[in-house]
Amino acid sequence: MAIMITTSPIPMITMMMFLMIISPSTCTPPEDPIHCSNSSAAANNTNCTITNSYGAFPDRSTCRASSATYPTTEEELVAAVAEGTRARRKMKVATRFSHSIPKLVCPDGDDGLLISTKFLNRVLAVDKEVMTVTVESGVTLRQLIETAAEAGMALPYAPYWWGLTVGGMLGTGAHGSSLWGEGSAVHDYVAEVTVVSPGTAADGYVKVRRLTEGDGELNAAKVSLGVLGVIYKVTFKLQPLFKRSLNYVKKDDKDLGDEVVTFGSKHEFADLSWFPSQGKAIYRIDDRVPSNTSGNGKYDFIPFRSTLSFALAVLRSAEETQESTKDANGKCLSGKLRTSALHSAGFGLTNNGLTFSGYPVTGYHNRLQASGTCLDSPNDGLTTACPWDSRIKGEFFHQTTFSINLSVVKDFIHDVQSLVAMDPKSLCVLDQYNGILMRYVAPSSAYLGKQENGLDFDLTYYRSKDPTSPRMFEDVLEEIEQMAVFKYGALPHWGKNRNVAFDGAMKKYRHGKEFLKVKEKYDPLGLFSSEWTDQVLGLKSGLMIVRDGCGLEGLCVCSEDRHCAPSKGYFCRPGKVYKDARVCSNRSVNWD
Ligand SMILES: Cc1cc2nc3c(=O)[nH]c(=O)nc-3n(C[C@H](O)[C@H](O)[C@H](O)COP(=O)(O)OP(=O)(O)OC[C@H]3O[C@@H](n4cnc5c(N)ncnc54)[C@H](O)[C@@H]3O)c2cc1C
Ligand SMILES: *[C@@H]1O[C@H](CO)[C@@H](O)[C@H](O)[C@H]1NC(C)=O
Ligand SMILES: *[C@@H]1O[C@H](CO)[C@@H](O)[C@H](O)[C@H]1NC(C)=O
Ligand SMILES: *[C@@H]1O[C@H](CO)[C@@H](O)[C@H](O)[C@H]1NC(C)=O
Ligand SMILES: *[C@@H]1O[C@H](CO)[C@@H](O)[C@H](O)[C@H]1NC(C)=O
Ligand SMILES: *[C@@H]1O[C@H](CO)[C@@H](O)[C@H](O)[C@H]1NC(C)=O
Ligand SMILES: *[C@@H]1O[C@H](CO)[C@@H](O)[C@H](O)[C@H]1NC(C)=O
Repeated sequence: MAIMITTSPIPMITMMMFLMIISPSTCTPPEDPIHCSNSSAAANNTNCTITNSYGAFPDRSTCRASSATYPTTEEELVAAVAEGTRARRKMKVATRFSHSIPKLVCPDGDDGLLISTKFLNRVLAVDKEVMTVTVESGVTLRQLIETAAEAGMALPYAPYWWGLTVGGMLGTGAHGSSLWGEGSAVHDYVAEVTVVSPGTAADGYVKVRRLTEGDGELNAAKVSLGVLGVIYKVTFKLQPLFKRSLNYVKKDDKDLGDEVVTFGSKHEFADLSWFPSQGKAIYRIDDRVPSNTSGNGKYDFIPFRSTLSFALAVLRSAEETQESTKDANGKCLSGKLRTSALHSAGFGLTNNGLTFSGYPVTGYHNRLQASGTCLDSPNDGLTTACPWDSRIKGEFFHQTTFSINLSVVKDFIHDVQSLVAMDPKSLCVLDQYNGILMRYVAPSSAYLGKQENGLDFDLTYYRSKDPTSPRMFEDVLEEIEQMAVFKYGALPHWGKNRNVAFDGAMKKYRHGKEFLKVKEKYDPLGLFSSEWTDQVLGLKSGLMIVRDGCGLEGLCVCSEDRHCAPSKGYFCRPGKVYKDARVCSNRSVNWD
């Protein structure tokens, strides 16, 4: 629905924010990411395409596979891998939702096979005695949390979004926020994994391995980018279910750089949302409390709720108008409106499951740790949807997500603050997407996991439907991206980001070589690898896609003006704080 906003967008936006917040409880569930031109049951799902939940990979290519298969049991899965290996087909594991941004899920060539975990979604065992739960890899975070809670157990740290699968979380190193316990990543609570990989003719073309604690290869399987084969099942070691108590405190961001260094060790579930152009940060003060503390709070995060498509279209149109008129004041104003609307609605928190009457919100961990009610059926013909559903006109964004060693994070924050000081309105563009989410991560035994105590920064920002269209203040965002990756040696989130963030990534992992050895052993023909995973793993060149306009989409670091949009006034310029950066900027001055 196209809505033209001409005179006064702000009251309209305010109304739409209100509509967003009171949105209904039914929703059209996200689309299946795999489409086969022939999907009748008898026809074996041939001639398929796959995309991610946003409907676009960073380079906007379409991924194809000659067929897709949906095993429902371990036997069927093993048979599928054997058949694919015998035929020497490229294979990739696909999930029900395909939430990763980079094209990890694309098999190369014309004869690819997608193996979906959509129907590998059963809980296999719950052992209250030793506190473990074993699930098939297509089980979602939501199912895992619910299953554990029913048995009085908890996964202490996890992503905040229900829709991720166990296989996908392990595939990309997904995490929540904590410096406590074993660390904030889901894979840090994995005790056992069963992997199905290609085998030799003598093996019947398939090999099933059970990896347990102490087995070095488990450290490869914990974060695998999907290149070791298919993870069939995973055993998690859990904790007794507990209660926690959460408080959001808004402060100015002057001393943020100092505060973040110690904040993470003070509170078990600490995180922060930073709004640099507002000069504010929201501190999440969140800790375990004794289980007899009263409260039955619940978190149903508003941006993860089903939202009226109409409201989403209006908000998107307003963004597009601001972009086309370069309306920085409008961005700042609507960003502030959104921030304050969310804040006064308690972000979707309730003290008792129904109403929000103030902080602290105390309740059982499983009701507070994650949410995502926009995943729910029944189908309402897209009247409502998840805000980023690509079938409607809604959110469309880039995401730049990296973690920085705690030892240097203060300097990074100061650099960002210096950039903002030169251009105070520039980072209003983040406010529309809830600011910079900052979460604590801890070192992991996983070869491709975090190396050091660090802070993970999640920047979400407008992306045009037109890849040749520059965006407001993209020079500032690009400088932050390059500063993080190249100056501060930040580690990328494997399931998010644009190409730039993966440049040189493998050199940052102490055990990167061990990972590659396990990959070579499990899949010597590279059937589960693709050009993209080889590039990310440093085995092949071409990660940076150098072509006209490549800088605009983060496919390259610009080195010539044509990598930006010279006809639209955007040229390749050095950074302002990090002089080695090369960014697409509309500035007339050269900052050397
Ligand atoms: C709304 C939203 C919120 C998010 N919040 C967080 C967050 O709080 N923290 C965080 O860290 N991340 C978060 N993410 C990112 C997320 O962790 C990753 O994108 C994750 O990989 C997606 O999981 P998925 O199940 O959709 O897997 P996919 O994206 O489908 O797959 C990811 C990779 O894993 C492989 N894979 C999947 N299953 C298997 C298997 N069984 N065996 C072998 N390989 C497999 C795939 O082949 C692919 O390479 C969020 C994403 C979204 C969309
Ligand atoms: C789809 O599969 C059916 C059954 O095998 C076949 O008859 C039909 O020709 C196929 N259609 C296309 C478009 O491939
Ligand atoms: C589907 O696959 C089965 C088993 O591989 C095969 O016997 C059958 O002929 C296939 N059907 C089509 C329409 O290709
Ligand atoms: C495969 O599907 C595409 C549409 O996705 C269609 O254009 C093409 O003709 C199909 N090819 C075959 C061989 O069926
Ligand atoms: C909770 O239990 C502890 C000891 O078991 C007791 O000291 C405390 O008073 C109780 N608190 C509440 C709020 O009931
Ligand atoms: C560059 O773009 C920003 C917003 O994107 C705008 O505020 C600024 O005025 C522009 N500068 C020039 C020199 O056009
Ligand atoms: C981050 O920590 C790791 C591990 O200690 C170290 O190897 C690396 O050099 C550090 N990076 C920076 C930029 O400080």
